[in-house]
Amino acid sequence: MSSFLTHLTITRPDDWHLHLRDGEQLKDVLPYTARQFARAIIMPNLRAPVVTTEMAQAYYTRVVSALPEELRGQFQPLMTLYLTDNTQPSEIVRAKNSGIVQAVKLYPAGATTHSDAGVTDISKCFETLAEMEKQDIPLLVHGEVTDPDIDVFDREKIFIERVLIALTQRFPQLRIVFEHVTTRDAVEFVKQSSVKIAATITAHHLLLNRNALFQGGIRPHHYCLPILKRETHRQALLQAATSGNAKFFLGTDSAPHALMNKEHSCGCAGIFTAHAAMELYAAAFEQAGALDRLEGFASFFGADFYRLPRNTNTITLQQKVWMIPKQYAFAGEVLVPLYANAELSWKMG
Ligand code: DOR
Ligand code: ZN
Repeated sequence: MSSFLTHLTITRPDDWHLHLRDGEQLKDVLPYTARQFARAIIMPNLRAPVVTTEMAQAYYTRVVSALPEELRGQFQPLMTLYLTDNTQPSEIVRAKNSGIVQAVKLYPAGATTHSDAGVTDISKCFETLAEMEKQDIPLLVHGEVTDPDIDVFDREKIFIERVLIALTQRFPQLRIVFEHVTTRDAVEFVKQSSVKIAATITAHHLLLNRNALFQGGIRPHHYCLPILKRETHRQALLQAATSGNAKFFLGTDSAPHALMNKEHSCGCAGIFTAHAAMELYAAAFEQAGALDRLEGFASFFGADFYRLPRNTNTITLQQKVWMIPKQYAFAGEVLVPLYANAELSWKMG
């Protein structure tokens, strides 16, 4: 990494957690990611979830075909399977042999967008998880319980206690990414776990606490799952991300929804950050006085955990004030990005 007052050059980063959607929406959002990142782990929670290797292969082809001409060959989608109560061990073997499926995603049923087909009881997946452990395919976890009696702000913490601890004990060799961690509890859990356990952290959870949901009124564009937490948790995330601990790496969880579905009586969960992902992370790391730690977090630790080669080319962020547009096009609808109409002080060249 070279760092001067005015620019920051780092190895090209990867996004280890991304929602790209499909069809026209995919075409509109993919270029933002492909301009900044060499690779991204693509979430399987489409309207018809990606539950088989065959579906992952077809989705892979759609993603690659949606790349604009100038970005062809420069971006590689890393595919995932959506775990269900009925995912068979044989599907894991197929996934491993495909060479394009990198991981399997656990959504507890009902936890978030398009999670209805998710897992109702983790014990139903034990044979499949054993096969994943054997094949060494990582499990990516949306770590929230769905019990409506549990306070929405406590769902991550209770998931650790009720599900994750037992899972790591039953499958000690299974590599697990605790996705988009949002609490001090999750950070502590990951830190004290074995080397098999890592976590991704989003830019929005590094930059915002739960006050952002109610800043002068209700703010649907700050609503995501897991929901933003209080400041003490944000501080713990910032500390983890900037600590140089290789268990924590970049995953934007950029999750686009049309404006009309966000500004709604029952608005969708998801924050779109792909338009300025690296700029947003740079803002968070700068706030912590740790820009020199951005490269490890964004470009090295994730690749190492997934056992993929680190990228060899670079990107450069310039120190330059610019204004984020109010909205972007989204398949004939409108997409409101994080920090719409606000200024950022870094810009990717
Ligand atoms: O806020 C979220 N949006 N959290 C998720 O887990 C899913 C995502 C989406 O797909 O919109
Ligand atoms: Zn997600």
